[in-house]
Amino acid sequence: MPMLRDQITSAEQKFSEEISAAASLDAIEKVRIAFLGRKGLLGELMAQLKQLEADEKRVLGPVLQKFKAVAQAAYEAKKTELQEGALRGTRERLKDFDVTAYRYQTFTGGLHIYTEIIEELTRIFISMGYEVADGPEVESDYYNFEALNIPADHPARDMQDTFWLKQQGMLLRTHTSPVQIRYMETHKPPLAVVVPGRVYRHEQTDATHDFVFTQLEGLLVGKDISVGNLLATARAFLRAIFGKNDIGIRARPGYFPFVEPAIEIDMSCPFCTTGCSVCKRTCWIELLGSGLVHPNVLKAGGIDPTKYTGFAFGMGIERLAMVKYGINDIRLFHSSKLAFLQQF
Ligand code: FA5
Repeated sequence: MPMLRDQITSAEQKFSEEISAAASLDAIEKVRIAFLGRKGLLGELMAQLKQLEADEKRVLGPVLQKFKAVAQAAYEAKKTELQEGALRGTRERLKDFDVTAYRYQTFTGGLHIYTEIIEELTRIFISMGYEVADGPEVESDYYNFEALNIPADHPARDMQDTFWLKQQGMLLRTHTSPVQIRYMETHKPPLAVVVPGRVYRHEQTDATHDFVFTQLEGLLVGKDISVGNLLATARAFLRAIFGKNDIGIRARPGYFPFVEPAIEIDMSCPFCTTGCSVCKRTCWIELLGSGLVHPNVLKAGGIDPTKYTGFAFGMGIERLAMVKYGINDIRLFHSSKLAFLQQF
């Protein structure tokens, strides 16, 4: 019995010291758990009491109950004191706070949707082993048309209305395809490159056409490259960008003088299976022009078409972003409307 009595006395003393020293709500909670908690010191002492003879229990039981009541009351009192102190501190801090004061509006900056989507697209192609290249927006007739198998009198020149510059033979590039030639001139096969960039067309604008927009060009040249490689690449890329494994693709014949055969690739609508407003109820979305690089284009790039073949593709980045993010007017991209830009 004296042993338990000593332990109770020492516990009372320890509790009194610790509760007095605790200076925060967190600290008194720790003291409460140590003494009054389910596995606390008081619980241990109670367990020891149960082992004693009945007459000893009669003496020490009330002593322990009193300790418990005193400790609980001391804890509650200290808690109230600390809470009131914290409230007084807050009141003191906020006493000069003027709720009517004018606050300057602040905006946090963010990346433009152009930057975001180009980074996302190039990241996917880099993961497939592609390089990223750039080319001039002020281009020559040679790179924009001639070297791409579109001679001066070719009717395909009408497919892309051109902003001609005053300087003879110079223009604002109508597509990113000229970089195919520039890249082949300086790199030997096997090569794989993507080229994101701004292009210009002398066109009337509407919800899906702008006079300045962005394209992503892709070019891969190596041994025995086939349409199968092109379609597999398009499928892998579309699945990655839309984050869906069930995206299908459809190939249709197209016409671009710099590829043969020319193939238009459509993707299955990522939003429906029965037709919706995005796919205009067709379940397919037109996405990119592509094909196997024409032998004349390989020659213009300094590559022997009897040894190498390749594929190329070009897509409108805004059109892709419009499908991905449900944007209904291409002109919003460079409208500088914050309400639009802040969504991304
Ligand atoms: C071309 O520009 C070819 N250079 C693409 C190509 C590359 C084909 C390599 C074969 C091999 P096209 O004119 O169709 O093709 O334009 C490509 C994409 O740019 C279109 O699918 C469309 O998404 C986008 N686009 C075309 N015109 C506009 C426009 N006025 N506004 C916005 N996007 C446009």
